[in-house]
Amino acid sequence: MLADKDRIFTNLYGYQPWTLKAAQARGDWDNTKALMARGQDAIIDEIKASGLRGRGGAGFPTGLKWSFMPKESKDGRPSFLVINADESEPGSCKDREIIRHDPHKLIEGALVAGYAMRARAAYIYIRGEYIREAEVLEAAVAEAYAAGLLGKNAAKSGYDFDVFVHRGAGAYICGEETAMIESLEGKKGQPRLKPPFPAGAGLYGCPTTVNNVESIAVAPTILRRGAAWFSSFGRENNKGTKLFQISGHVNKPCVVEEAMSIPFSELIEKHCGGITGGRDNLLAVIPGGSSVPLVPAAEIWDAPMDFDGLKAVGSGLGTAAVIVMDKSTDIVRAISRLSHFYMHESCGQCTPCREGTGWMYRVMERLRTGDAEPAEIDMLQQVTKQVEGHTICALGDAAAWPIQGLIKHFRPELERRIAQHVREAAE
Ligand code: NAI
Ligand code: SF4
Repeated sequence: MLADKDRIFTNLYGYQPWTLKAAQARGDWDNTKALMARGQDAIIDEIKASGLRGRGGAGFPTGLKWSFMPKESKDGRPSFLVINADESEPGSCKDREIIRHDPHKLIEGALVAGYAMRARAAYIYIRGEYIREAEVLEAAVAEAYAAGLLGKNAAKSGYDFDVFVHRGAGAYICGEETAMIESLEGKKGQPRLKPPFPAGAGLYGCPTTVNNVESIAVAPTILRRGAAWFSSFGRENNKGTKLFQISGHVNKPCVVEEAMSIPFSELIEKHCGGITGGRDNLLAVIPGGSSVPLVPAAEIWDAPMDFDGLKAVGSGLGTAAVIVMDKSTDIVRAISRLSHFYMHESCGQCTPCREGTGWMYRVMERLRTGDAEPAEIDMLQQVTKQVEGHTICALGDAAAWPIQGLIKHFRPELERRIAQHVREAAE
């Protein structure tokens, strides 16, 4: 179990105030000027050496992403940092805790990261439903300006840097990085084709890096304690500490910071008081937010909770939003409900996603009630394959994968429902 002294988020549960004074007492904003004086390339190299991978779901190496930003401005164009605080993935609720209780970690991280990538300003795009969190964030940003930590000569570093908080309006798709950029520009939030990646052409056509809240908020601590300290947790390719969010059928749902690669069983037993009704009552787990396939109980129990460990069991770490389902769960209904979510949130710009999500939901509903032909299970699988990889953004994949996981692991349950429906109709 991660020792308290190794936790980055020391106020995750809000036992202390979020304010600048309290954050400084916890070590935030401690000689930020000296961190920045190390130089932009040195900061990027340290983040690269730490092994930090993006905490928003995709796990792209953070330092590498920062290094894509231009060192010199082309045609006088500024560069920007966009911080993704849209957190709308079902099951995900970690960025909310950071913003509520530790906003200065994020703001200091924005300055240090923005400086390293030579950005002129950071835009924090916060989920529209996070009303109180946005209020805290805006107040914390105002405190930082008042203390000279942002704005001209930020933190006496000689670097000018602004932070803007932008509230979303409730669309899941605006969490996709290019849809977020469109939305920031005042347009309808629809993903752009990639490439070009935002580092080449992002906000207002300028070089832009989009990073998740957690990825940015851990940066100052990594710089203070060193890449070697951070990378001493986890294992090769899966380094550092990570916020896990465990919901569903556990005795104590929680958000907790742990070392990467902690086994699922340890996470659940040590932090969540175990599965409701005991280990034998576990049915399946969606380990990384709703966009990754479910994993049955027997396969997840000993799995290391990291990128490679969950890939090995046919799923993914995603945002580390661990949705636990015990045997009281109607698993077909649960996945059908997710299908409805993706259908509702599809932006509609590409046909396989716009039409496919509706198709998949309607077949899922028939399978839920059993009012379907057995051949529809294979047909549904084929539809998911037509959607997967054939769309502009990852929402199409996200809609397909949970269904593929259901068919792979719970086909007998789908067949049982159809047979039962036939029996009941004949009676
Ligand atoms: P992606 O793999 O396309 O990109 C990841 C990041 O790396 C992006 O910032 C992208 O610009 C950058 N990148 C990738 N290849 C690059 C290259 N060759 N050159 C320059 N930059 C490159 O994944 P995407 O679509 O950004 O994110 C999908 C993930 O988001 C899913 O795995 C899902 O788990 C997660 N997600 C998280 C949500 C949340 O609430 N936090 C909501 C929905 C999905
Ligand atoms: Fe929009 Fe879906 Fe296409 Fe993404 S995959 S761009 S959400 S239609």
